[in-house]
Amino acid sequence: AGAAMAAERGLAMATCTAPVNIAVIKYWGKRDTDLILPINSSLSVTLHQDQLKTTTTAAASRDFTEDRLWLNGKEADVGHPRVQACLREVRRLARKRRGGGEDTAALSLSYKIHIASENNFPTAAGLASSAAGYACLVSARARLYGLEEELSEVARRGSGSACRSMFGGFVQWQRGERPDGTDSLALQVAPETHWPELRVLVLVVSGEKKPVGSTAGMQTSVETSPLLKHRAEVVVPERLAQMMQHIRDRDFEGFGQLAMRDSNQFHATCLDTFPPIFYLTDVSRHIIALAHRYNTHHGHTKVAYSFDAGPNAVIFTLADTVAEFVEVVRRSFPPSTNGDQFVRGLPVGSAALSPELVGAVVTEPVPGAVQYILHTKPGPGPQLVDDPSQHLLGADGLPRSRA
Ligand code: DP6
Repeated sequence: AGAAMAAERGLAMATCTAPVNIAVIKYWGKRDTDLILPINSSLSVTLHQDQLKTTTTAAASRDFTEDRLWLNGKEADVGHPRVQACLREVRRLARKRRGGGEDTAALSLSYKIHIASENNFPTAAGLASSAAGYACLVSARARLYGLEEELSEVARRGSGSACRSMFGGFVQWQRGERPDGTDSLALQVAPETHWPELRVLVLVVSGEKKPVGSTAGMQTSVETSPLLKHRAEVVVPERLAQMMQHIRDRDFEGFGQLAMRDSNQFHATCLDTFPPIFYLTDVSRHIIALAHRYNTHHGHTKVAYSFDAGPNAVIFTLADTVAEFVEVVRRSFPPSTNGDQFVRGLPVGSAALSPELVGAVVTEPVPGAVQYILHTKPGPGPQLVDDPSQHLLGADGLPRSRA
């Protein structure tokens, strides 16, 4: 009702939030770089927005003289081709939906828009923010026009992985066959409630920014890596079917094993790229070795790691393992300064480690190598924010100064 009243005065506003997702069958490589069509399907887990989310407000007004965009309070380039592609596609859908009708809201289609977006997590931490960002941009923009339909195809135009952030829980991005991309969409495999015990620990690694962005990196991989070609044609189709079954069965052993193997193969294709790309660092490799020692000690898969185009580790585990594994990480990477903030997000209980566990698993501590651990779990897809006090733009259409 608030948005409708504002629309009468020529200002309409909508705010949405959207989640981050982490792929367990990775997307790496495009067959069409403009439409963002992948060479293989992928599968991800949507993370909970209480810990990681983007919030975006979109406003349209007859008084705006140009499109404008603010990211985390700073004005950014609204002319970015991917931002433009998303905005254009939402507008096109809205036009189609209305069939050129002349109602109040239809007027706002020609209005200039202001967009403000911010993350509830530090962008510098290198946590994938473009997926949540584009999913949120498309959601907020669509809400402004009252569009209710499935928009993963539009979010895909912003960033491939963004299409998977349009759903909660467990999500498949099917590669599709058509050259126009109309069948390259995200589908929910299971909702976030499907596997209540599943937990996620993001180990934020200290250090430098990633050397090569995913967009450029995957293009070089497509051009030079025979392993990537084999992966897309042979390995992924098999793994995708297996992974869906593990998720349906809530089979952590199968899920975790396959998630680790797929992360490793993605990084193997990076090494097979020429010139090679390195996203894993020494600390990443320490975490990998630690996870394997931990699983070996317990005799089965208790934790599974996954790494994207950067050194941070995402650990999948079950609720009953969190406290012990967090303590293992704390012992293995003793925090240097911010000891009290080492564990963030969902509460983590305390655990006493047996001397056998410490002896077998905590072999060579690396102080300060892990900045902090974020404890989260699977969560829902984009949400509409009803409370107008949460809008990131004020009645003047400019970013609100945040207290
Ligand atoms: C390693 O979606 O960021 O995180 O489509 O070029 O924007 P663009 O790439 P992006 O790539 C993500 C790659 C990945 C794996 C994944 O999320 O599936």
